[in-house]
Amino acid sequence: MDDGRRSRTRSDALVVFGVTGDLVHKMVFPALYRMVKKGVLDVPVIGVASSPWTVEELRKHATDSIQGSGEDVDLEALARFLGLLGYVGGDYKDPGTFQSLGKALGGVVRPAFYLAIPPALFETVIRSLGDAGLSRQARVIVEKPFGRDLASARKLDDTAHLVFPEESIFRIDHYLGKEAIMNILYFRFANSFLEPVWNRNYVDSVQITLAEDFGVKGRGVFYESAGCLRDVVQNHLFQIVALLAMDPPAYQGYEAVHAEKAKVFRAMRPLKPEDLVRGQYNGYRSEPGVAKDSDVETFCALRLFIDSWRWKDVPWYLRSGKNLPVSASEVLVEMKPPPQKLFDDSDPPPGEGRANYLRFRLSPNSAVALAARVKTAGKEFVGEQRELFLQNEQRGEEGPYERLLTAALSGNRSLFSREDAVEAAWAVVDHVLYDHPPARPYDVGSWGPREAESLLGPEDRWHNPGAG
Ligand code: BG6
Repeated sequence: MDDGRRSRTRSDALVVFGVTGDLVHKMVFPALYRMVKKGVLDVPVIGVASSPWTVEELRKHATDSIQGSGEDVDLEALARFLGLLGYVGGDYKDPGTFQSLGKALGGVVRPAFYLAIPPALFETVIRSLGDAGLSRQARVIVEKPFGRDLASARKLDDTAHLVFPEESIFRIDHYLGKEAIMNILYFRFANSFLEPVWNRNYVDSVQITLAEDFGVKGRGVFYESAGCLRDVVQNHLFQIVALLAMDPPAYQGYEAVHAEKAKVFRAMRPLKPEDLVRGQYNGYRSEPGVAKDSDVETFCALRLFIDSWRWKDVPWYLRSGKNLPVSASEVLVEMKPPPQKLFDDSDPPPGEGRANYLRFRLSPNSAVALAARVKTAGKEFVGEQRELFLQNEQRGEEGPYERLLTAALSGNRSLFSREDAVEAAWAVVDHVLYDHPPARPYDVGSWGPREAESLLGPEDRWHNPGAG
């Protein structure tokens, strides 16, 4: 699926702001290296950061990152990648840094600027690119979180639009580049059997869990300014909700998908404090960079409603947390149970197989499974619930950063978030960002605070994904 535009120009350089940072080391260098290896990246890659590094130091740093990423390194491709690298060091607040960048760009006409920097610096860098005359025909790729609430997202959009037209702004949510998440869209609309039941008449509830079995991993300073709701719920989890909840796009082309997703965000009922349980793992306050009396949540569970014709009154239970028992993410779409209890085992306790469900496993492996009851051999009419696997573990997938950066460099906006959708998603959480219950403590390795149970209806249970 394409974004529908016929002619797109390719960027002729990639400028990576924040090139000495963690994100670039962990995700971006390996992605760029793979792009070079595949032959889709052959333009200069200029790193920018405040450290006074030489290009040699940057090359060494990039080499460490790629060798540490666990893949077999092709030395010829690595050399080609390192040969594309350049470096400009300087303070982002100093106009001189942007003049040096202009010189380093030389004859480049259509650079793509990738801001892998703390969100507080986005506006400074965007304005400076404009002031230095570097933004003409350029693209800007912005990492999440895009804003920290509705007002700041709007302000950031306004600033960005002073310098770049909307069609040159690429807001990254790396979840949109994940194979298993792209498959939700495909699975829903490449099949016809789902559509008749994919609504309030047949679906009882939807659950999405994004669990991680590690803590903030040295990102305490960032996490203190974000918390789980801003870090993964307003973006990653909401994007998954939108793909599951959207109406069929009216025509082929990504503009139609964007339009339907934006309608879902608009139809989400703004969250109230009672829709939310916040948790904090024991020990979080001793992490480097974390306040001793921090109330920032490392766990978040919420109950969401989408007030559309299709989804009215169906609860969407979303949950994410650090230091939970496993690292795994799953969606469970639970259907209503049969209206009559005809068999001896027709009324198993909640969570024990009474209702059919569709399960999308999103990570660490991907799967799509449909659960249904089947009779056990014997004279009794009793049975058990079994899962039919429609897809189980697809390997060899392209990583999300590789996919998204390749798309951005060629101007393909399909997998990026649109301004109206990002703002509508902020509007849903805006109130509870500031008015919320205190974070409840939970033990490392548990499924979060017990209070999360209170969000569920009497017949519902949290579905805890297995380690797999
Ligand atoms: C990032 C968050 O956006 O997503 C992290 O900042 C989180 O806190 C990560 O761990 C999860 O992404 P993935 O791809 O590992 O599921």
